[in-house]
Amino acid sequence: MSNKSAGLAGVVAGQSAIATVGTGQGLNYRGYSIDDLAMHASFEEVAYLLIYNKLPTRAELTAYIAKLVSLRTLPSELKSVLRLIPPTTHPMDILRTGCSMLGTLEPELDFTQQFAIADRLLAILPGMLCYWYLYNFADKEISGLSDEATIAGHFLALLHSRKPDKLQRDMLDVSLILYAEHEFNASTFAARVTAATLSDFYSAITSAIGTLRGPLHGGANEAAMELIAACITPDDAEREVMQRLAMKNKIMGFGHRVYKTCDPRSNIIKAWSKKLGVAQSAESLYTISERIEAVMWREKKLFPNLDFYSASAYHYCGIPTALFTPIFVMSRVTGWAAHVIEQRADNRLIRPDAEYIGPDPRKYVAIDNR
Ligand code: ACO
Repeated sequence: MSNKSAGLAGVVAGQSAIATVGTGQGLNYRGYSIDDLAMHASFEEVAYLLIYNKLPTRAELTAYIAKLVSLRTLPSELKSVLRLIPPTTHPMDILRTGCSMLGTLEPELDFTQQFAIADRLLAILPGMLCYWYLYNFADKEISGLSDEATIAGHFLALLHSRKPDKLQRDMLDVSLILYAEHEFNASTFAARVTAATLSDFYSAITSAIGTLRGPLHGGANEAAMELIAACITPDDAEREVMQRLAMKNKIMGFGHRVYKTCDPRSNIIKAWSKKLGVAQSAESLYTISERIEAVMWREKKLFPNLDFYSASAYHYCGIPTALFTPIFVMSRVTGWAAHVIEQRADNRLIRPDAEYIGPDPRKYVAIDNR
């Protein structure tokens, strides 16, 4: 009983050298602060840092970007499967299915392929997502390739079939950095549990995608957008939040399991949301979001997590709400990959105990006597 904890809160479930989260050191990826990375690095630099465990030199980064660009091709069998998935499907299920399908086409035969598979997934996910989305909602069959070197630019170019706006591309790049890694969160832990059985890389990432999908985790950014979009003025927003709180509903995009007073990523994405709102002379979404933040603090002492201001920032980029959580996947695949690699390097099966609360042992009753 003594070490039992609902939802494993506060339980140290293993060692990791990848990130610090809320330990008094702030959020760091491999020792580098999230503020420095968001301010100075590109997402590809951060991906390299997480997967290859060092900051790349300029030459290494140039080569890495070129390599990722060369890995974007969608296999024709994958496209056939994507075309079969109904338009009513949630886009997270596209990535879950697409990742699993890729694992049948390009299987991991031994663990020496793990870095190559991590890079392949990172490179292909935006094309996979946009291929299915545009096939169903724009009546267009795209190649999945673009002239954009960065993943942020590539995604926006595919989605909108034009060269991306610089401010939007820069915001998305920062957002991918912020979402890339966060220690033993639910989806990463799912990936590690799968990896710890010595299963293959794709199975670990597929488990993680399925875990990220829920509204208590990655799905919160979509739910936050639905709330913001339902309000026309800040006063509307205040009324709506008060009503939801009175009904004991959760407001998605607020609170955090580890952080207790603020999410260090939130102010960074909040500033980008404001910048985009001002640039587009469309600040109402931002001011509505700010009011929701103020009400949540006043009423519950709850603060926005990364998902909350990501919602308005993505909306300002013309990204459909249903694609918000898949963007999280496009980024977090780097953190998941780092954790799978780390788990495999010093593996032990992850298998906790349960506290039994069922009936005492009893006699089996034959079926005709029940
Ligand atoms: N809105 C309203 N009340 C909340 C919220 C919220 N967003 N978050 C927590 N609370 C309240 C709970 O109702 C509970 O109140 P009670 O003690 O009166 O019952 C108390 O705060 C503790 O909440 P728990 O859900 O038990 O806290 P836990 O640590 O298990 O959950 C979580 C953390 C899941 C993030 C929670 O804050 C939540 O559900 N937030 C909304 C979903 C969300 O934004 N998820 C994104 C997480 S960050 C990310 O994935 C990038």
